[in-house]
Amino acid sequence: MSSSSTELKPHFLEEYTSPLWITPEAKIRFDLDLERTIVRTDYLVEYVGDWEGEALPGVFFHGEGLGFLSLRINGAIAEPLQYHVSEDGLFLRIVPGRSFRLTVENSLSPKHNTALEGLYHSGSMLCTQNEPEGFRKITYSIDRPDNPIRFQVTLSAPKEEFPTLLSNGNLIHSQEWEDGRQEVVWEDPFPKPSYLFAIVAGNLQYRSDQWKTKSGRSIELRIYVEEKNLSKTDFAMFALKEAMRWDEETFGLEYDLDLYMIVAVDDFNMGAMENKGLNLFNSKLVLADKSSATDDTFESILAVVAHEYFHNWTGNRVTLRNWFNLTLKEGLTVFRDQWFTEDKTDPSVKRIKDVLILWEHQFPEDAGPMAHPILPKSYIEMNNFYTVTVYEKGAEVIRMLSHLIGRDTFRKGLQLYLHTYDGQAVTFEEFLSSMEQVSHHSLLQFRNWYHRKGTPTLRVEEKWNPSEGTYQIKIQDSETGELPLVFPIQYALFDQDSKSLDSGLWEMKAVQEEKVWTGLVNKPIFSLLRSYSAPVHLAFERDERELIFLAKQETDGFSKFFAFQKIIFREFRNRWEQNQKNSTSDTIALYKHFIETRETLPKDYLSYLLAFPGLTILADELKVYAFEEIHEIRHKMLQEISSTLRPDLFSVYKENLGSMSSQDRENIGKRRLKNMALSFLFYLPQAKDEVISIALEQQKQANHMSDEIAVLRAFCESSYREKETSIQLFYNKWKADVLSLDLWFSAQVSYGPDALERAQSLVSSSDFNWKNPNRVRSVLSSLARNHLSFHRKDGATYRWLCECLLLLNEINPQIAAQIAKTFQSVRWQDAKRKGLALMALQTVLDFPHLSRDLAEIAGKICKDLENNQS
Ligand code: TRP
Ligand code: ZN
Repeated sequence: MSSSSTELKPHFLEEYTSPLWITPEAKIRFDLDLERTIVRTDYLVEYVGDWEGEALPGVFFHGEGLGFLSLRINGAIAEPLQYHVSEDGLFLRIVPGRSFRLTVENSLSPKHNTALEGLYHSGSMLCTQNEPEGFRKITYSIDRPDNPIRFQVTLSAPKEEFPTLLSNGNLIHSQEWEDGRQEVVWEDPFPKPSYLFAIVAGNLQYRSDQWKTKSGRSIELRIYVEEKNLSKTDFAMFALKEAMRWDEETFGLEYDLDLYMIVAVDDFNMGAMENKGLNLFNSKLVLADKSSATDDTFESILAVVAHEYFHNWTGNRVTLRNWFNLTLKEGLTVFRDQWFTEDKTDPSVKRIKDVLILWEHQFPEDAGPMAHPILPKSYIEMNNFYTVTVYEKGAEVIRMLSHLIGRDTFRKGLQLYLHTYDGQAVTFEEFLSSMEQVSHHSLLQFRNWYHRKGTPTLRVEEKWNPSEGTYQIKIQDSETGELPLVFPIQYALFDQDSKSLDSGLWEMKAVQEEKVWTGLVNKPIFSLLRSYSAPVHLAFERDERELIFLAKQETDGFSKFFAFQKIIFREFRNRWEQNQKNSTSDTIALYKHFIETRETLPKDYLSYLLAFPGLTILADELKVYAFEEIHEIRHKMLQEISSTLRPDLFSVYKENLGSMSSQDRENIGKRRLKNMALSFLFYLPQAKDEVISIALEQQKQANHMSDEIAVLRAFCESSYREKETSIQLFYNKWKADVLSLDLWFSAQVSYGPDALERAQSLVSSSDFNWKNPNRVRSVLSSLARNHLSFHRKDGATYRWLCECLLLLNEINPQIAAQIAKTFQSVRWQDAKRKGLALMALQTVLDFPHLSRDLAEIAGKICKDLENNQS
């Protein structure tokens, strides 16, 4: 284990100091071998402190799990007294001057690296993952993002085993030796921090294409995969070219090297990594063809390929001064990829999807034991801070800024920022000051979004004065602390005939503000937070009829959806509180309305409008976490909706059969709408046989994975005996395709109260592999997100997952920590469950060789559970 819980020392933002020493040049040589790789690194070391005294301070080089071999200073073997090698690095006590060469040699073993950080193997390939602090597991280094390095890399490896040898930048030399080894030299002309360094060695094929930039340069594009996957690279290549075009058109940003490479890796801790000129991707976010990838997968590929490409400017050319500022590159780049996808697909649908992620994942994080501002003040293990808060709330903060200053000014501000700080390592301050310069808009108070944690609640009150014809809206931030925020509130005011009386942006800066409209004849209808212009909870008690009006008449796609959700929430709350049988259901009436007028809305949009909220969102909305009961009410409501709309749902289903297997909006919409109808039909006990036969037929005839997986999921959610047929059918067809099989694993444990036993039997099957993060997540994360099974009364799932955590702790601490985060949601359970979870987590904490990653997460969650035991 590279790190133990004895070193749970936090790093504090306040303690940041700039480096005294940097390494502007590095020449690295790798003699690659699965068992024992030798690395020799030759640095130019320079003093950049402002110290004027006689003896210069020493230099510390990070190093973890390395076999130290030798050290030379300016070419001469260093004296043993001159330096000290320890567990976490190499300290050079005595330096020869302000500038010198340091050459260090070390060994390491990729074969035994199952943490998938540093240099590791995946299948028969060797590759690296260095963000945030993996480089120190490869060689001794000043491993921090504010140390920009010009790299030259020599890779030497047996040609037969590793014919493909890649690194960042340009290939400048290649040679074969008689002993069968091959040697290549790569050079990256752009200085970069060590976290963006990468190498790949393997037996890979590539698909290539060309991109002509706006200024006429020709770029070679390559996607490297195993030979058998070459046919699955079309879509990723398409996505890459679309992203390149978009960034040129939207921000005038061109790619800067002659070669852009993407490599697909099967064993990968996260989604993808933006290494300069050599992006590494989780296979599931590159490989796709119609028969094996779902529509959601295609859209994720589009977004993630673009995301990593966009990092070339926001992240790489202008990088971070320290890891506290992670959101500077991630929040901004997520916002850029969201904007890109909005432009390429349907902006309302994309907005709804992003808001759903926020509601389901970010709001709970911000209300739980891991809550932190998008600029965290401290961290123990940086890997744990690649959070939905830093990424998704970070993107919301940038989006708010774009509302406040307008997208055109935002464009100019981004250009100014990139131009001013090109090649530098900066903080969110530099970014905001560029935005202030172009907009002449003070962002002083806006900065508090970087420091305040938690989801704000805005209380809204309206007052209608019919005799005077005035309408007043008062909004109040329910928290009146030291960090007042700025809320961009997009609104519209409608009259009874749906005519817009006013619309605009309300920039709310005081803790409480009001607006008044005069000269009105009838009470207007106020729509606020259009396009969800601020990531907040809204507390606005309003007339049900107005919500119905908005659900029907709003032209803003998000607000229409939002109004309908509110109606559903309301009815849900009524049923929860009064257990009433609600015979006049507005929800059902609206379902009927939307389905009957379905020609007026795009299919894809309609499928999102009609999707019934899941357990997490319902529980958070009601602030009631008794999932069995919520599930029961939800089930009943779904049954009522399906029974009432039975003929309509069958028509919607039939109308949308026969979609072409292509990735265009019409066909994606057809599939989604049809499968949405089908999922409702599964709630119809009266039509059971018919539905089962339709569904199995769809699964057998499918020409697109979306159609297969929809059936499998619907069966798994149901209690129909035929689910086993569906499971078997899917398995037989896809057992050789790892990515499709992940969907199969996940579907089986995602629903119902009996998923634990299934998960236990799945992990003991020969298809399961503890070392593959996608496979592990497909079972363990899916199980933990299944509230009915996760929060079992007897605590059995808590206990079992904790056993798994200890196993994963040895294999892959990052994945263990990712899974451990799912225990955040236990804080909203009853005392008995909390006690059971606490006991299980305590056994994890008591384990003597806990990784820093897992110790930090389990520790925080336990502390939180102890603090609110009742
Ligand atoms: N920088 C990557 C991105 O968002 C994410 C990342 C951070 C990552 N750490 C990682 C990816 C570890 C893979 C493995 O684009
Ligand atoms: Zn990113």
